[in-house]
Amino acid sequence: MEEKESFLKQKIDIESPNRNIVPITTSIGNDGKLSVGGCSIEELVKKYDSPLYILDEITLRKSCRAYKKSLEKYYPGKSLPIYASKANSSIFMSNLISSEGLGLDAVSEGELLTALQGGVPNNKIVFHGNNKSDKEIEFAVKNNIKIIVDNDYDLERLDEISNSLNQNLEIMIRFTPGIECHTHEYIRTGSFDSKFGFGIEYLNILFEKISKTNHLKLNGLHAHIGSQIFELDPHKDLGEIMVNVILDANKFGHDIQKLNVGGGLGIKYTENDDPPSIDEWVKTISTSVVKACKKHNLDLPILMCEPGRSIVSTAGITIYKIGAFKEIPGIRTYLSVDGGMSDNPRPITYQSNYSACLVSNPFNIKSKKKYTIAGKHCESGDLLFKEIELADCKTGDLICVFGTGAYNISMSSNYNRIPRPAALLVCNGEAEIIQKRESPSDLLRYDVLPDRFIKQN
Ligand code: LLP
Repeated sequence: MEEKESFLKQKIDIESPNRNIVPITTSIGNDGKLSVGGCSIEELVKKYDSPLYILDEITLRKSCRAYKKSLEKYYPGKSLPIYASKANSSIFMSNLISSEGLGLDAVSEGELLTALQGGVPNNKIVFHGNNKSDKEIEFAVKNNIKIIVDNDYDLERLDEISNSLNQNLEIMIRFTPGIECHTHEYIRTGSFDSKFGFGIEYLNILFEKISKTNHLKLNGLHAHIGSQIFELDPHKDLGEIMVNVILDANKFGHDIQKLNVGGGLGIKYTENDDPPSIDEWVKTISTSVVKACKKHNLDLPILMCEPGRSIVSTAGITIYKIGAFKEIPGIRTYLSVDGGMSDNPRPITYQSNYSACLVSNPFNIKSKKKYTIAGKHCESGDLLFKEIELADCKTGDLICVFGTGAYNISMSSNYNRIPRPAALLVCNGEAEIIQKRESPSDLLRYDVLPDRFIKQN
């Protein structure tokens, strides 16, 4: 049988990082060992310990620039890409995104605060959420952040706030366009049966309601159809549907100047994944909006999109150290690492697949074996890989998992009171900490023993 070539030998698509498994700067040194951003991973682990999240700055910036460049090409002068910060929210990410001229989408006061502290201008932030608290809404209004109204409860409260301030408030609304796409059901949001947004069939009633408010100015529409999508047709359809909704809103006197088409472009986690490029995605959605506007003689609205995963996922890797082995003869060999479902809950939540290699033998030179990579949590399902081929390895060897930049650190937990790993940024041979490693004592910070228990002991 012909030997399959390692994914590490595949040609890198410099223009569209989401089409690669590995960060753009990944290389194998003369010593045969893996490095990223010009930094030897083995050296980084010696200095910063493991598990370790690493982000490659060049890949991150390339992804941001790809969205900006393609939007300029297909939708000149009237667009704003917005980073969906739920993918990976930090002061560093907010700062980088903002330095590239992107806006940011936040879904909680925590994400809003992170964005503002990271330097994202408030007029480039949008605030989403299907159950915003009063406090969150007040925070957004006070900071002049555009709110995306998700439901009647949002609308009622914004109506009240704008009346009490006697001040106009610009709003956008989120609706479900009724588009089905092929992705995991938990990350599919644009179909009719979704907890997010107004049903498309309700919009005329909503438009009328908004026209009757004193101070709410509806000037934008939002829809997001799902995540990790490889097809282009759903976004082509979305452009057309959204333009039709502009026409409906116009009938009620609303001047829609902004269309936010959400995010959703998939990335290549494994060799079986073949997502479109950022350019193809932007071209599809832009041409669909331009064509539909032409057809109806409408001025082009400002086009916004909200990529999360395709900005940050491929830039990120996670390094684990191998500890225990357990061989069950004739069945499998478990290899346990020093992290797992608390730093990457995606395999246990969505049965997600990743690619990985050994840091000291990335090409699996010499013997190859099948392993099951287990996390260290007290949960049988805490498996990062059900079956993976790696070169023969031993306790103390390092494993690099690719594509972990999105929805890993942001979905991490302290299950089993395991501290979160540190996160590093690498670029041109330098590594800098962007999130400190937690310690077990950090995890006790918010524990409180009521006085009467202290007395008892
Ligand atoms: N905009 C809205 C309103 C969203 O709800 C999302 C993702 C995005 C933008 C960004 O989508 P992206 O470009 O990243 O596909 N935890 C799941 C993904 C949940 C996505 C939630 N919404 C996962 O790990 O796969």
